[in-house]
Formats: sequence, structure tokens, C-alpha cells
Amino acid sequence: TGATVAVVGSLNMDIVVQAGRAPRLGETILGEAVHFIPGGKGANQAVAATRLGARSAMVGAVGRDSFGQMLRKSLIDQGVDDSGVRTSESETTGVASILLAEGDNSIIVVPGANGGLTPADVEGNRGLIEEADVLLLQLEIPMEAVEAAACLGRQAGKKVILNPAPARELPAGLLSDIDVITPNQSELELLTGISLDGEGLKAAMERLLERGAGRVVTTLGEDGTAILEPGADWIRLSGHRVKAVDTTGAGDAFNAGLACALAEGRTLPEAAAFANKAAALAVTRLGAQAGMPTREEVEGFQQ
Ligand code: RIB
Ligand code: NA
Repeated sequence: TGATVAVVGSLNMDIVVQAGRAPRLGETILGEAVHFIPGGKGANQAVAATRLGARSAMVGAVGRDSFGQMLRKSLIDQGVDDSGVRTSESETTGVASILLAEGDNSIIVVPGANGGLTPADVEGNRGLIEEADVLLLQLEIPMEAVEAAACLGRQAGKKVILNPAPARELPAGLLSDIDVITPNQSELELLTGISLDGEGLKAAMERLLERGAGRVVTTLGEDGTAILEPGADWIRLSGHRVKAVDTTGAGDAFNAGLACALAEGRTLPEAAAFANKAAALAVTRLGAQAGMPTREEVEGFQQ
């Protein structure tokens, strides 16, 4: 399609342990299986974007270790431009320890080299951002790097999407560089301090517009998405009910789908509908990067 997405964000090795249930504090139990699957919200979104039909480039950092080599290889195998991924000499590759039990996940992320990403790394890869149609950001790297990327993207006239995950407070001013912010419900509550009961959802989304975001898309899991654009009525899109195997990476599939479709010039509701399908398919498979759907699968998805 010729659409190009640049991602500035994290790369992690996901160490996924499957067990019948979660251990209690201080308890040891036997698990069923362990998988080493490339992950990290940034890399997941870059890989998903290529599967969904865009070209993509990744800016980030890994350590000089075997996990770092495997993560870089995963990007290259999927056709992601990895020229913006720096190898840190001092820090280990980021790791996510993921427990899958009773159909749900709990995750501990140790940032490692992701935590050393700087505004200078962003500036050094200015060309990758300038070549893209859309810049896609998350919050698994230092906030200064997110701010530098958003500012550069805005100045270069790119659509900047911020997936505010994992949830963190945002510095004043960041939102005015963001075209679309894509919180889930708990992230929206944390960002605004507004409880989402009753009229809260719409009020919280309005708050993000007041604070400078261009548009807001809230992901509601199986309940779909809510979309708010200035000067328009808000829109609710229904979700897709699927059998959940592993929800890890569903948000990443959504954001990559949104970025691809916006890069192709589709409207925000069209892009969100495409993204909803990508996320639903991702939920039916094990692993973050390993479970990302292709464009053909999304276009053939009936429900
Ligand atoms: O969004 C899913 C990702 O979050 C996982 O791949 C894991 O690395 C964590 O960063
Ligand atoms: Na998955």
C-alpha cells in the first residue's frame, strides 16, 4: 500500500510461563510450559504493522546478548527496518516475565536497554520518522524519549499516535503533540482521574481533548471502542467476541491496525473498525509478536 509507520519504543524478550493457576506469595508450583517469544510494545506494533500491510521502521535499544540478537532477527524476518535499533554495551535486553494462568496474564517488565533510550537516539533517527506517514509511540521507554519523538513527529507534519501503555502520568504539553491517543479503560481513568461509571467515559475522553490531544480512541475490550473527535458526536463501535487464548499483544495489534489504516488515509472510525478486527484475531493466538494477524486475515474476518 506504500503506507509507512515509524515506531519509537520498546523491545522485550517475553518469557511466557503457562500454569494451571497463579502461585500465592511465597508459594512454589509446577507450571506446564515455557515459551520465549519476541515482545515489547514497540516491537510488537512494528511487526504487526508490517503484517497488516504497511512498511515499518523501529527505533529502540537492545543489549549485546542473545535475547537482543533474537529480537533484532524477529524484526528483520518480518521485514521491519531495524536500522534505528541501537545495541547497548552497558545494559541487558528488556525482558517481560509473563504468567498465563486461568485465561489471564500478569506481567513484570524489566526495561534494561529500553530504559536507556534517549532524545539523542530519537534525533539520530530523524530520517526514519520523516519518511513515515504515521509515528506510533507507547510508554515503555523513558518519557523524555517519548516527548522528543512526539515533538519531532509533530514538527515533521506526521500523524502522531500515543498508546499510553503501560499507564503513566503524562507531562504537561505532551498531548498537544499527539493526534490520536488510545487509552484502555484503566489508562483513561489514571490519566484523567475520572471514574468511567455512568457518563464518565465521555467526560474522561473530553478531558483529554481539553488537555490538547487531537482525537481520542478508547479501547473497551470485548465492548469495542469509543471514538471522540472535536466538533463531532462521539461514536461507539461494537467489539468482537472471540475465544481468548492469550490477550498479550491485543492492544499492540489494535494500535498497529489503527496506524496502518490512518497511514492509508482512512477515517478514524474506519481505522478503528480495522484495528478492532486485528486485536480480536491477536487474542485467539499465543504470543505477542507470534500472534499478530495478517492483512488478509483481518479482511477475511467475519463477525
Ligand atoms: O503489550 C504486550 C507487551 O507488553 C508484551 O510483549 C511484553 O513485552 C510487555 O511489554
Ligand atoms: Na496473542
